[in-house]
Amino acid sequence: MHFSSEEITALAQAEATAPRYDIYVLIHKALRAYMVDTLLVVGQLDVDDEAALAQAAGRVGELLAFCRSHLTHENQFIHPALERHVAGSSQAIAAEHVGHGQAIDALGAVVQALASCPRPARGRVARVLYQQLALFVAHNFEHMHQEETAHNAVLWAHHRDEEIAAIEGAIHASLDPAEAMLCMRWMLPHLAPAERALVLSGLRAQAPAPVFDAVLALVRPHLSADQWRRLTQDLTLGHA
Ligand SMILES: [Fe+2]
Repeated sequence: MHFSSEEITALAQAEATAPRYDIYVLIHKALRAYMVDTLLVVGQLDVDDEAALAQAAGRVGELLAFCRSHLTHENQFIHPALERHVAGSSQAIAAEHVGHGQAIDALGAVVQALASCPRPARGRVARVLYQQLALFVAHNFEHMHQEETAHNAVLWAHHRDEEIAAIEGAIHASLDPAEAMLCMRWMLPHLAPAERALVLSGLRAQAPAPVFDAVLALVRPHLSADQWRRLTQDLTLGHA
């Protein structure tokens, strides 16, 4: 799982080759950011602040729903493409998805307990939520790395880039507007500038102008002044 120093040297000196289409990279950047940010919110929670408590509980619930939906997409759209060519190649990750579903249920129960427990118990329950969410995030980070390496290796060996992009397109088409917006909220601020411009120019080409404008408005508060300036240059928006 870790690179050796020889592998890093080889990577740095390799001839430039066109990268393969990576179905995981953008959504996993979104998930990593969303998970870490939510964990920080729980760690910072003042359990005596009713509004903050409700907000944090809502935030964790929203993350859990997003994670459940994400693993369902992978099961439904990506794993069949792996299994068609290499039987059993999605088995280990699919089994981890079952475990993630159980962890999501358990975390949901802790969120419920935090929202409804007597005030003196809140601190203890909030600490359990923080610790359990941290373990969930830690496991998901290793899990996503496996998908980005082992699963991508099978996808790249047996599918052309257009076929992989078509799988991603089918996932996007299955999202309802609220989930698509949530995806943009956590993805776009945490991409490299070229990736951000690529996603947004694709959206501009495909979506109605009001949708494109709504996504820009959603994301702008989460970009630095420099990131926004770069994006407007890349998209030649002309209203930086
Ligand atoms: Fe996964």
